[in-house]
Amino acid sequence: MTTTIEAEAPPYAAIAVQGVARSFGDVRAVDNATLTVPAGSVTALIGPNGCGKTTLMLMLAGLLRPDEGTISVAGHDPRTDAAAVRAAIGWMPDQLGSWDNLTCLQTLTLMGQAYRVNKADARARGEHLLGRVHLEEFAHRPARVLSRGQKQRLSLARALVHDPQVLLLDEPANGLDPRSRIELRDLVRELAGEGRAVLISSHVLAELDEMVDGAVFMSKGRTMGDEAAAMVAEARTKYRVDALDRDALIAALRSSSVPLEETDTGVILRIDGDDNAADALAWIVGKGVRVHRFGPVGSALEQTYMAMNEERR
Ligand SMILES: Nc1ncnc2c1ncn2[C@@H]1O[C@H](COP(=O)(O)OP(=O)(O)O)[C@@H](O)[C@H]1O
Ligand SMILES: [Mg+2]
Repeated sequence: MTTTIEAEAPPYAAIAVQGVARSFGDVRAVDNATLTVPAGSVTALIGPNGCGKTTLMLMLAGLLRPDEGTISVAGHDPRTDAAAVRAAIGWMPDQLGSWDNLTCLQTLTLMGQAYRVNKADARARGEHLLGRVHLEEFAHRPARVLSRGQKQRLSLARALVHDPQVLLLDEPANGLDPRSRIELRDLVRELAGEGRAVLISSHVLAELDEMVDGAVFMSKGRTMGDEAAAMVAEARTKYRVDALDRDALIAALRSSSVPLEETDTGVILRIDGDDNAADALAWIVGKGVRVHRFGPVGSALEQTYMAMNEERR
């Protein structure tokens, strides 16, 4: 009998991290990180300042060596094959350095050439990317005239010049105004739709909710795994309902079996899934209660983040 190794069916893990640790002197910046990011999806890396997000991303980018654990990025080990990893990833650092005297198009053309793309192709790709990040009008202006948010967008375009399959975005929404954040969200979704794997760190949690397929929570250098996933799932079962006559609402609900919680901000129900939510709403309205608001209680990622930080205190 022969054994065949079957190719992994997509979505395969474009990033796989197992038991990774890294210290700086006495500081164990990353203590134990384990996560996977499938191709064609967006995964959030969430945690308070100093929990090790940037250190982890630097290791994924092959810019910092782990002390312990294994990393695979697009099938390559950054420790032994840093060049292949760099070719496969687009890295958007949290702190952008820009060549202030170069124009935006020159910046992207040079970046492309650094990845051994010929100048004409690099320039054409640069023009295309400036359009994608809505900086066309700055193509021939020096990067120093850009606002902070525009520099963030140029930085994202820079991360894309060599058409990478894996994107590491470190706090990309930092410094972006609301419109730019929405555009970033749409662009990130498009990039994942093209089959790329995206790992995005942020603490702007409300925006992440709509952008990501999965989330990895980090606390004190450790990824939280199943524990956090369970908290996110639990947070997603909370619905707020408001009626013109709150007493009538509560009376109706008490006659049902739906678990309910009264808070200062309204009545919270525990409902598992959209189907059950639709049934619950129809039932309440059928009881003659005049409901004027019904929906999930805000961001599940944010609730999980807050709950985790409460535990830390
Ligand atoms: N080069 C470094 N030298 C010493 N300590 C560092 C260095 N980089 C990060 N740290 C420390 O490691 C921890 C994690 O930092 P970092 O990865 O930047 O966290 P985050 O990106 O989540 O804010 C922090 O305590 C930080 O002070
Ligand atoms: Mg950071």
